[in-house]
Amino acid sequence: MRRILTFSVLFIMMAVACNQGQEQATKDKVLSAEKLATTKEYVALNCQTCHSPDADHDSRLAPPFFAIRKHYLKEFPEQADFEKAIKSFVERPNEEHALMLGAIEKFGLMPPMMVEESQLNDIATYLYQVEQIHPQHSDKAEGAHGKGKSAEVKRLALSTKKVLGKNLMGELKEGGKEHALSFCNVQAITLTDSMSQNLKHRIRRVSDKARNPNNKASAEELKVLAEYQQALESKEELGPRMLNNENGNYGYFPILTNPMCLQCHGKIGAELETDFYQKVQQLYPEDEATGYGPGELRGMWVVDLDSL
Ligand code: HEC
Ligand code: HEC
Repeated sequence: MRRILTFSVLFIMMAVACNQGQEQATKDKVLSAEKLATTKEYVALNCQTCHSPDADHDSRLAPPFFAIRKHYLKEFPEQADFEKAIKSFVERPNEEHALMLGAIEKFGLMPPMMVEESQLNDIATYLYQVEQIHPQHSDKAEGAHGKGKSAEVKRLALSTKKVLGKNLMGELKEGGKEHALSFCNVQAITLTDSMSQNLKHRIRRVSDKARNPNNKASAEELKVLAEYQQALESKEELGPRMLNNENGNYGYFPILTNPMCLQCHGKIGAELETDFYQKVQQLYPEDEATGYGPGELRGMWVVDLDSL
């Protein structure tokens, strides 16, 4: 009897301890309306750059969350298990923990993201709580205003981004960021050049805080970047823009950071490790492209529309 009592006391103590340890991860956790809105926005800016809900297969770099959620719900119907699985994958993407092996084959393994733990907790709850957009539904919405040159600029910028993103993702996976860095250094420019040859368009990347001085924005381009920055701050949509002047006709498309970028463009000594940054500086002594957080304006694509 006494032993049973001891056991039950022990059991209760353990149960209480576990619950305290988990704090937030208990079942039926629901995000407040405010948290929901900020998390949705975070995901849209930081994850959907690759996990786009658009039905357009060509510009997508990863499966849409609609499909991911479906796979995870099937495998982990309980909220706590679902959230734990999502979190452990995002913290350390690897093939053993992945559910979507077909997606790995098609897109390559997801590179590591720099997401804070509390943020990741909210993302996991959000993905459990909220049904994600079905790609076919967003297709209709896209089609309605997907015409003309601005759609062409967007398409071009996205396909270039896809080539760059895919290669960068591959390099990060293969040999880590040091390997990827030399890849960027030697090949980033030729890559965009071969893209523009491919598409018979001139397309390049510029920034107000460039790593490579050749990518510095001109006075005119700085004005466009400032407009994008303002639009981002007032949470307006950042679509393609056009400009014509005596030099010709140009189309622009903004480039935002996501958590993958921070290991090379984040804060020095934080996401961007000091030792690694010394190597960056050896290659790019004039580097200005650090200190970024996720979802910030990093630069923009410039398309020469007269060559279209
Ligand atoms: C740079 C592109 C990129 C970004 C940004 C990105 N992902 Fe991914 N993600 C991928 C790719 C590619 C896959 C599919 C291959 C795989 O499973 O690794 C994937 C797969 C996943 C999966 C499913 C893994 C599986 O197979 O079980 C989850 C969950 C996920 N991502 C969550 C996130 C979250 C949350 C974010 C934002 C913090 C994010 N991703 C941002 C590229 C990205
Ligand atoms: C492995 C390190 C690495 C990662 C990860 C990385 N970059 Fe870069 N980035 C570089 C290097 C190196 C350059 C300079 C390339 C060159 O010489 O043109 C660069 C250049 C750029 C440029 C051109 C303007 C400039 O500063 O020269 C933009 C825009 C840019 N990166 C955006 C991004 C975005 C957005 C991401 C995330 C999706 C990202 N980068 C991820 C290393 C990286």
